[in-house]
Formats: sequence, C-alpha cells, structure tokens
Amino acid sequence: MSNILPVLMGSVKDVLHSINYGMYVVSSKKGDKINGQVVNTVFQITPVPVTIATSINKDNLTHEFINSSGVFTVSILSKDAPFKLIGLFGFRSGRDVDKFSQVDYGIGDNGAPYLREHAVAYLEAKVIKKEELFTHTIFIGEVIGGKMLTGGEPMTYDYYHNDIKGKTPKNAATYSGGGL
Ligand SMILES: Cc1cc2nc3c(=O)[nH]c(=O)nc-3n(C[C@H](O)[C@H](O)[C@H](O)COP(=O)(O)O)c2cc1C
Repeated sequence: MSNILPVLMGSVKDVLHSINYGMYVVSSKKGDKINGQVVNTVFQITPVPVTIATSINKDNLTHEFINSSGVFTVSILSKDAPFKLIGLFGFRSGRDVDKFSQVDYGIGDNGAPYLREHAVAYLEAKVIKKEELFTHTIFIGEVIGGKMLTGGEPMTYDYYHNDIKGKTPKNAATYSGGGL
C-alpha cells in the first residue's frame, strides 16, 4: 500500500494556503532615496555564511532599488503591527508615496532603512545572487549585520489573514487570484 496519502478534499490552492510564513518589510536604497515593501517571503538558506532569500515582484520600486544598490534589509514585523503600517508598505508603491517619512526608522550599515517601530528585529544583507522567475526575482543575500529591536512575538502570515483579516495584493509571491 502506498504511504502517500491522497489529498481527499480541496485544491492545490488550499494546499498552498497551508504553508507557513512570517511578515516582513524588505527595504533598500537607490542613491539618496529609500523605500520598502511588505513581503511574506523571507527565509534563511545557509547557516555559514548566513544567507537569506526573498521573492520580489519585478514591477515593484523595491525591486528597482535592490537591483541598483545590491543591498536589502529585512525588518521582522511584530504581532502588534497595525494594518495602517502593513497597508502603507504592502498596498502602496514608493512611486506614489514616501513611505519612510511616515514611520520611525533608522539607517543600517548597508545604507538601507529598517523600521524602528513594530519590528522585532532586523537583518542587513548584500545581494550575492539573484534568480529571475517569471514575474518575480529571488534575491539571495549574505547577512552582514542585524539587531534585536523590540523583541517579542513576530507576526505570522496566518495571524495577518485570520486575526487582522488582511488580504494579499496581486504583486505578492503568494497571491492566489491566478495560477492553479
Ligand atoms: C501580506 C502581504 C504579503 C506580500 N508579499 C509580497 C512578496 O512576497 N513579494 C512581493 O514582491 N510583494 C509582496 N507583497 C506586495 C508588495 O508589498 C506591494 O506590491 C507593494 O506595494 C510594493 O511596493 P513598492 O512598489 O514601493 O516596492 C505583499 C503584500 C502584502 C500585504
């Protein structure tokens, strides 16, 4: 008998919805400009050296900034991050609004900004590899620094959906309006 259980109910979409993620703001710079966006796609790839990856839509201003500067910073959102903050960084483009002028932030050693409010901690990275895949680019960064900020509980993607009742826009890596 096969030890692979059949998916009895639901679609591949339901299966994709059961993958766990966190909630982050990935930021970068271009010249003297700074910008950032919400992502749920950040994960550690290797322990030594420490490398992380994030998947960014090619249309986003943050994509342009990471490509230009070769650096990015990940602010790990805390559970108390209000929808107003997620709305600003996740539903609006830096092409239309100066996002960081509306929040408390600092500039890290790599020159990119990090959130000083509603962020548990941040990691600074320099891009060492990138892979274009259809609509998105996976930026792989070597971690060159980072600090704990407020500490506490990081927000999960599940908490964002089920407690904050937030949605995921079209440019997100896990947007479920298309595909399967
Ligand atoms: C919960 C959530 C998750 C998101 N995940 C991603 C992601 O993983 N990758 C991505 O490119 N965009 C993601 N987005 C969408 C971007 O945050 C959004 O397109 C943003 O407006 C881009 O801003 P920018 O043009 O200033 O870079 C997500 C948005 C939300 C609300």
